[in-house]
Amino acid sequence: MTKSDAASATARGGVLHSGPAGALATTFRSHLAGSLREADAGQPVRLAGWVHRSRDLGGLVFLDLRDRAGIVQVSFNPEWTSAEAIALATTLGAETVVLIEGMVAARPEAMRNADLATGGVEVRATSLTVVGPADIPAIPVARKAGESLPAEELRLRHRHLDLRRPELQANLVLRHCLMQVTRRHLSDHGFLEIETPVLTKPTPEGARDYLVPSRVHPGEFYALPQSPQLYKQLLMVAGLDRYFQIARCFRDEDLRADRQPEFTQIDIEASFVSRDDVVALAESLIAALWREGGVAMPDAIDRMTWAEAMERFGIDRPDTRFGLEIFDASALFRGATEFGITRGALDGGGRVRGIRVPNGAGMSRKQVDEVEAIAKSAGAMGLLRSRYASGAFDGPAGKHLPADAATRLGAEEGDLFVFVAGPDHVSSPALDRVRQELGRRLGLIADGMTNFLWVMDFPMFDRDPATGALAAVHHPFTAPHPDDLHLLESEPHRVRAQAYDLVLNGTELGGGSIRISNPALQGRIFALLGIDEVTAHNRFGFLLEGLQAGAPPHGGIAFGFDRIAMLLSGAPSLRDVIAFPKTTAARALFEGAPAPVPTADLSDLHLRVEGVTE
Ligand code: AMO
Repeated sequence: MTKSDAASATARGGVLHSGPAGALATTFRSHLAGSLREADAGQPVRLAGWVHRSRDLGGLVFLDLRDRAGIVQVSFNPEWTSAEAIALATTLGAETVVLIEGMVAARPEAMRNADLATGGVEVRATSLTVVGPADIPAIPVARKAGESLPAEELRLRHRHLDLRRPELQANLVLRHCLMQVTRRHLSDHGFLEIETPVLTKPTPEGARDYLVPSRVHPGEFYALPQSPQLYKQLLMVAGLDRYFQIARCFRDEDLRADRQPEFTQIDIEASFVSRDDVVALAESLIAALWREGGVAMPDAIDRMTWAEAMERFGIDRPDTRFGLEIFDASALFRGATEFGITRGALDGGGRVRGIRVPNGAGMSRKQVDEVEAIAKSAGAMGLLRSRYASGAFDGPAGKHLPADAATRLGAEEGDLFVFVAGPDHVSSPALDRVRQELGRRLGLIADGMTNFLWVMDFPMFDRDPATGALAAVHHPFTAPHPDDLHLLESEPHRVRAQAYDLVLNGTELGGGSIRISNPALQGRIFALLGIDEVTAHNRFGFLLEGLQAGAPPHGGIAFGFDRIAMLLSGAPSLRDVIAFPKTTAARALFEGAPAPVPTADLSDLHLRVEGVTE
C-alpha cells in the first residue's frame, strides 16, 4: 500500500485550516502557527501553542512553536524583544503552552528550512505569556531525525503526549476526512444515517460478547453489539429503504494488529437489492475513500469464488500481489507407494498440495527449516521439499517423484518445490502461511500495489471438527444461494451463501450478504444450526416477528473503518489511527481500564467477583 505522501497530507491539512480567512482565529490567536507562509511576511500575528523545542544562543532565543497546523520558528532578539520576554523565553521547558505576539518576517535565503512548511518565515516575538506550564514530559514529543519512538506501552500510557506527534495528528485528520466523505457519499446515494442501541441483545458475529449487568433487573444483562446486524435488518422491515451508520462494535476476541475489541464499521443496508447492487454501491464508496486518501485504485475489482480462493491460496482473503500459487500435486505422488508421508495422506482421503518457488533452490536448509516451522505452527506435520537443479529433483520427496515430474510441474532450473500432505483443512492454512512467508522473504511484494478482490459464494456452513455441529460461516441471517436450496437438509456443506467479502492485499476490508427475508427459510436455517424454536424465539424473536410482518428482500455490507484508515495512512497498526486504542491484551493503558470496582458497586449490580477482595 502506498503511504499517502507528505504532499497530500499537507493538502488535507490545507482543507482543514483554510476556509474563510481567519476561520480558526480566536480571542487568543490570529493565525495557526503552522499555517504561516512567506505571503504573510510583514503581518503582525498572535499565536498560541506548545513549545516544541528551544535553543538559547546567549541573548538570542529560538523557539519552535507547534499547533495542529505545524511548527513555526519564533525568534527572541533584543532588537525586537523586551529583556523580560527574552529572560522568560530562556526558562521555557518543552511542551509549555504559550501565547506569542510578533511580526512575521521572511527568512534570508541562507536561513530557510526546506524541511518545514513554514521554513521561509520566522516570527519575531514582541511578547510572550505562559498560559499552560508543563511538567517535564514523560515521553518526548520532539524527536531528532532518525531517533526512534519510545516503547508503544509507554506511548499508550501517555497518549495525550503521543497524540501530539504530527504523524498521529495527520492520521486523525485523514480519519476525519474519510468519515466526512463516507457521510457525504452515502447521503448522496439516498442512505439515511440512523443510530442503533449500544445496550442491546447479543448479535452472533462469532466473537464473545461484552456484557453489561442491569442494576434494575437483577441477574439480567445487556450485550454490547458485535455489529448492528439485527437492527439494520429491522430498519429495512420498517421501510426505511437505505440505512448507514458509522457504528461502534464490540467483540471480545483474540486481538492482533488489525483487530481491536472496540472498533468502527461503516455499516450499510439496503432494500430491494441484489448482490450486484450492493457490490456496485460498495465499490463506489471505496473509490471515493481511496480518492480522498490519495491512493490510486483499479477501475474494476476482480472477483473470485471462495472455493477458488481456498484452492489457489489456501485462505478466503488471499493476497494476490504475488504468485506462489498452491497446486494439487496428488497425482504425482499416487505412484509413490513406498513414501509413507504422502501415501498416508492420500489413502486417508487427503491430498498432496504444493507451491513452486522460482529461484527458491538458493535458500539455505536453515531458511527452509524456518519456513517449515511456520507450516508446523499452522498445523502441518511438516513441509516436504525438493530442489530442482541440474535437471534433477533432490531430497526424499524428489526421489519419489515420477520420471516425467519436471514436465508436469513445469519445473525450471533453480526452483524449490514445497509440499504439504494431508486433508485440506490442514494443508490450506499451512500453505497459506508458507506462501506469505516466502513472498515476504523473497521480496515478491512490490511497494504501492493495491490488489482489491471480491471473494464470493462462501459456503453457508462449516462443521465443528470435534462435534460435527454446523455453524454459520457468515452469520445465521445470510441467505443461501437460490440454486442450492434443495441441498439444505441433504448436503448442507455444499450450500453456497449469498455472501461476499472485499479483500485488499490480504486484509479483509468488509463483508456482507443478502439476507433471509422469508421467515420460514430463516426457521429452516436456525434448525440446521441446532437453534430450536424456543431458543430462536428467545434470542431473535424480534427479528422473526419483523420478517413475519412483510419484509422486503434486503442485503448489505459492513466495512472495517479503522482498517481503511490504517491502510490509507500507511500505519502499521489500528492503534495508530484510533485516538485512544486498547493494547493487544485489551487494556486501555491511558485511562486504566478495565479496573476493579468497589464491592458496594458490585452488589448494586447483584454481582460478586470470586477470589477478588477489595
Ligand atoms: P464482519 O464480522 O465481517 O461483518 O465485520 C465487518 C468488517 O469489520 C471489520 N472488523 C474489525 N475491525 C477491527 N477490529 C475487529 N475486531 C474487527 N472485526 C471485524 C473487518 C470486517 O470485514 N454484520 C456483518 C456485516 C454484514 O453482514 O453486513 C459484520 O459485522 O474489516
